[in-house]
Amino acid sequence: PPHFTLSSPGTPIEPLPLTQDDLKKIAAYKAVDDFVESGMVVGLGTGSTAKHAVDRIGELLQQGILSNIVCIPTSTRTQEQALSLQIPLSDLDSHPVVDLTIDGADEVDPHLNLVKGRGGSLLREKLIECASRKFVVVVDESKLVKYIGGSGLAMPVEVVPFCWKFNARRLEEMFGYAGCRAQLRRKGCVCGNGGDDDAYVTDNGNYIVDLYLEREIGDLKAASEAMMRMSGVVENGMFLDMATAVIVAGSGGITVKDK
Ligand code: 5RP
Repeated sequence: PPHFTLSSPGTPIEPLPLTQDDLKKIAAYKAVDDFVESGMVVGLGTGSTAKHAVDRIGELLQQGILSNIVCIPTSTRTQEQALSLQIPLSDLDSHPVVDLTIDGADEVDPHLNLVKGRGGSLLREKLIECASRKFVVVVDESKLVKYIGGSGLAMPVEVVPFCWKFNARRLEEMFGYAGCRAQLRRKGCVCGNGGDDDAYVTDNGNYIVDLYLEREIGDLKAASEAMMRMSGVVENGMFLDMATAVIVAGSGGITVKDK
């Protein structure tokens, strides 16, 4: 006899609540299904949301629904995933113009400005996303913020390892008016401030200084430019005025935000 009983006919089945990962997958799949076309050069983002987009591209290629596409990964992690799915890969040297990049984000503000890089890949992401005709961002609703820095979580800045403490102090001073605290990112976590031995090292051999802000930093463009003028700063995690569209998956459904 079966070890289970079926509920009586007509009993409504309670839908399971969607997990955060389900929402990430829904947003990522929608981006691929709506935006990726055969023959395109596609940038592949990094992180737990972008990972689903890469899976979907692999699946559609396998099924022959997509063909003749070439992809440019934004990290060694994504490169490995794409290779495991037999997705054809290239780089910006060979394909300087990218039709479309799909990537996640850590924060999205009402103007579609972003914070990126909690996954550590901000430099390659910005390079490839700046070279993209379309940049489609995929997030679950937890990433929406009132202002950049508003989640209270890290705003990453990639710095050269040489004199990183000097640069961390300068960044802290630069945004002192916003209650900024700077921390070297450690391997495996976004926390702590100890020696250099366990520093997180990016794909480019650099360190990440995470900035924690208590208040709004105000003029984002000026702040980004000021950071980029500091020698030793390689890239910062503010992605301003770059997103073509943001696909947000939430408990109430999918919203597409664009300008
Ligand atoms: C990596 C990133 C990621 O896109 C960002 O951290 C979002 O990650 P996740 O989708 O895992 O929440 O910028 O550098």
